[in-house]
Amino acid sequence: MKFVIIGCGLIAGSHANAIQNCKDAQLTAVCGRRKEPVEKFAGEHGCRAYTDVEAMLDEIRPDAAVICTPTFLHEQHVSRCADRKIHVLCEKPLEKTPAACRRLLDKVESQGIVFMTAQVVRFWAGYVELKEMFENGEMGKIYMAHLRRVSHRSKQYSPWIFDPALGGGAMGDMLVHDVDYLRYAIGPFQSVFAHAVKDETGCYNNVMANIVHKNGVHSLAEASFTQQTGYPFGFSVDIAGSEATVEYQYSSGASTLIKRSGNAPSKSLCEMRIWKKGTGQEMIPVRQYDAYQRQMEYFVECVKQGRRPRIVTPEQSYEVICMMDAVKRSADSNEVVYL
Ligand SMILES: NC(=O)c1ccc[n+]([C@@H]2O[C@H](COP(=O)([O-])OP(=O)(O)OC[C@H]3O[C@@H](n4cnc5c(N)ncnc54)[C@H](O)[C@@H]3O)[C@@H](O)[C@H]2O)c1
Repeated sequence: MKFVIIGCGLIAGSHANAIQNCKDAQLTAVCGRRKEPVEKFAGEHGCRAYTDVEAMLDEIRPDAAVICTPTFLHEQHVSRCADRKIHVLCEKPLEKTPAACRRLLDKVESQGIVFMTAQVVRFWAGYVELKEMFENGEMGKIYMAHLRRVSHRSKQYSPWIFDPALGGGAMGDMLVHDVDYLRYAIGPFQSVFAHAVKDETGCYNNVMANIVHKNGVHSLAEASFTQQTGYPFGFSVDIAGSEATVEYQYSSGASTLIKRSGNAPSKSLCEMRIWKKGTGQEMIPVRQYDAYQRQMEYFVECVKQGRRPRIVTPEQSYEVICMMDAVKRSADSNEVVYL
């Protein structure tokens, strides 16, 4: 299966490695806006370099494309692929607005291509185990879920991410991972009340979205890009259920979490603990694998079999972008927004 990647910035390398490690896929070309970085990327990954998307698609005629351009360009780039019947894996957030997302998905549907939003958390070790625990009843009735994702503003991030109209900061770019997982693992949304604070970029770089799901579960999704430099990237999940409480934490560097867990200081921390009714704390082993690789293998298998991906569906991708829009409207108005 011949692959191309459109956009060769921060996230493209993870997809390039995933394609190259996938036995049924081959990375043939990559496209970026500027000649020098795209040629460097292509050299590192042994493929051709382009600065013109149309020229790459017409000359290479790939089977599939991964869209790794800034979010506000996703509709444009997915559309160019769909018009040529090229299957697409598109980075998150799918688009900036529900209207753009709807147009993108209608185009995909009308061209009959295999399409998936790259919501990698749905493939991520730890989150996968948790979803299995919800499904096999181990957690019992879910009462509350608290998902958190924080980072400092690393120099690796491009300026568009911190433009309120283009990337939207933590609210626009980071929160979507957890909102998406909540839709997947807990269920459809009913309403949201968001507390959010802007920093000097004009973006809501601190946000707490209080979500009510249609099944009555309450969840809190939190994202921040305002940690001080040096604070490790991290995420966590706390779930309270009638049969068990689960805590899952990841931190990419030394932090207070390490002291709490009693481990010797190390570069990163990843642990999942469960308290089952009537028993004490147990550690849950978290599987070790590359989630981008797992996501790519799943997408390739769907293309090979010509079937619609079931782990990330267009319908849920649309609901998630509607929720992202509702979070923003709630923060702007300081009111509850119903979906
Ligand atoms: N899944 C994840 O964990 C994750 C992490 C980071 C970013 N992302 C998402 O991936 C997407 C890209 O983010 P990034 O941080 O890699 O961005 P980036 O700014 O680092 O890279 C964007 C790339 O797109 C190219 N580009 C821009 N305009 C173009 C055009 N008109 N034609 C062709 N190429 C063009 C740029 O040259 C650059 O190579 C975003 O939607 C972002 O939210 C996902």
